[in-house]
Parts: sequence; structure tokens; C-alpha cells
Amino acid sequence: MNEETFLESLFPKDYPTSCLLGVIGDPVAHSLSPKMHNLAIAKLGLNYKYVPFHVPGHFLYRTIQELAARGVVGFNVTIPHKVSIVAMMDDLGEDAQVIGAVNTVLIEPGGKLIGRNTDAYGFQAALEESFPNRSPTRVLLLGAGGAARAVLWGLIKAGSSVITLANRTVEKGEILVDQMPLKHFDALVRVIPLTANRLPLEEVDLVVNTTCLGMKGEIFQAVDLSRLPESAMVMDIIYSPFQTPLLLAAAARGLATANGLGMLIHQGAKSFHLWTGQEMPVAIVRDYLINHIDVSKK
Ligand code: ATR
Repeated sequence: MNEETFLESLFPKDYPTSCLLGVIGDPVAHSLSPKMHNLAIAKLGLNYKYVPFHVPGHFLYRTIQELAARGVVGFNVTIPHKVSIVAMMDDLGEDAQVIGAVNTVLIEPGGKLIGRNTDAYGFQAALEESFPNRSPTRVLLLGAGGAARAVLWGLIKAGSSVITLANRTVEKGEILVDQMPLKHFDALVRVIPLTANRLPLEEVDLVVNTTCLGMKGEIFQAVDLSRLPESAMVMDIIYSPFQTPLLLAAAARGLATANGLGMLIHQGAKSFHLWTGQEMPVAIVRDYLINHIDVSKK
């Protein structure tokens, strides 16, 4: 398909682009964002439409130029474009700069592209909602990928002061931590290998899994939950399956748990607010998603 035909194919014929929102990804069909945002739009009686934009990498730059030229309100960015789109922005919010990725773009009148990242906010809001007033000080963070970057930044901003990042590839964790603006915060962050005998499980208030282990039902061999204090909280940013083996085991031990649905909803709610100035009806969106995330995987 040539560029012109491709760009034309992106836009719904029956809708003014000045009321358009969407998500850019490749693939994008699996994204829950259109469901979330269109439900919120309908509940609030707003005049927007949120659509999936399936955009391969070689069309990314031209696509966002076209979205800006046509006066689209803004859009989300998902895999695999969150990092590569950073260099295409005219301006970046602080979280996007620190995380090194953009998940939300605002298009100003005149076409200026503002890159934001709402993932750290989404994590912080989900943490507070799932474990109210618990403010975990000592945290074990599992993983060092893109999601870990947002979660680590959220933890630092939320005031966690002793953070241990455990990753299979230690160097990746070290690079991630080196890039955090830690000198402005009272947080000690160390990096260790993700091996059972190194994890400080007796001394943490919260464990957060940001690796993909659990998406296919994998068990976390290295994490012996019996070593955690009884007051410990366990969060997994995975929401499909609804309960990973890590969360099921933590719940069976009587620990407080949370899956990734809260982070998904709250990062979306923040984007929604940036574009529309309105609060997303999060309770309604949550009920809908709980009933529509693949039931067989719950
Ligand atoms: P995302 O952007 O979703 O965070 P990612 O950047 O691919 O995804 O990161 C995946 C994370 O899961 C990484 O921390 C990865 O560990 P490595 O940095 O060592 O690759 C972790 N991960 C993936 N498969 C794993 C496995 N089998 N055991 C342990 N960690 C794993």
C-alpha cells in the first residue's frame, strides 16, 4: 500500500477529525483502550470517537504528521512505538523524559505535538487505590523492561525509599537505574540478579512484578512468598490472566494483592483528562473491563 492510500485508510469517513482520539500500535487490535475510552465518552455524553490506528514503524512519522495536520485531539501510543516516537515530539512532559517513552500525545491547535507518559501516574493511582494509606517504603521490583521504568519512577515519586530491582539481566537493571534522576529524591535503589537466594523478601513491604512471567501461567520459581512478612502487599502489572500464579499464591497466603487492571485504567483516565478535561468514570470502566477481559483466563 502506498503512503497516501495508507494515510487515507486510517480515518473514519463519517467523523470529523477534530473530535477524533485513538491509539497507534502494531499490532493494535488487542488494545483495550478503544473500549475504555469509548465507554467513558458515551457515559459522559461527549462528542469524541476513539479509534485504533494500526501503524507499522515505517509509516509512523508520516502518520503523526497527518494526525497533527488534520487537527486530531490526541492519541495513545502502544507497542512497539512508545520509545521511537519520543524523537518525533515537539515537546515532552517530565514523566516522558524520565521514562524515555511516550504513551499519550496531545496535539495543540497549530499542530504542535506534546508527548506525555501517564504510566507512572497510573501505577501510583492504582497503588493508592489497591492499598489505601499503606505507602510502601521497602519495595522489591521484579523486571527492568519498559514497564519497570514507569513503575520505578512511580515508586520514587510516591516516596518509596529502599527499592531493590531484581532482573534476570543485571546490566539492564543498572542502566535503567542510572538513568533515573535519583539525586532529587531520598531513595536508595540497588540492582540484584533475579535469583532466589538474593531476594530480600523478609524485608519488603511490597513486591511488584513487571516481567512477563505469569502471562502464560508461568510460576515465579525465585520468589518464595512464605518469606514475606504477613503485612506485605503483592502487585502484578499483568491483567490477563486476571490472576497470575504469583497473585494466586500471594492471596492463598493471605497477603493483600492487586493485578494490573488498576494501572491500565488509571493511565487511561489521566490521558482522557489531558485530552478532554473530564474525569473518566473509572468504576464503570472497571466493571466493564472485568466482564470483558477474556473470561477463560480470569
Ligand atoms: P516490557 O516493555 O513489557 O516491560 P520488556 O522490555 O521486554 O517488556 O521486558 C521484559 C522483562 O521481563 C525484562 O525485565 C526481562 O528480563 P531481561 O531484562 O533479563 O530480559 C523479563 N523477563 C522476560 N522473560 C523472563 C524470564 N523467563 N525470566 C525472568 N525474567 C524475564
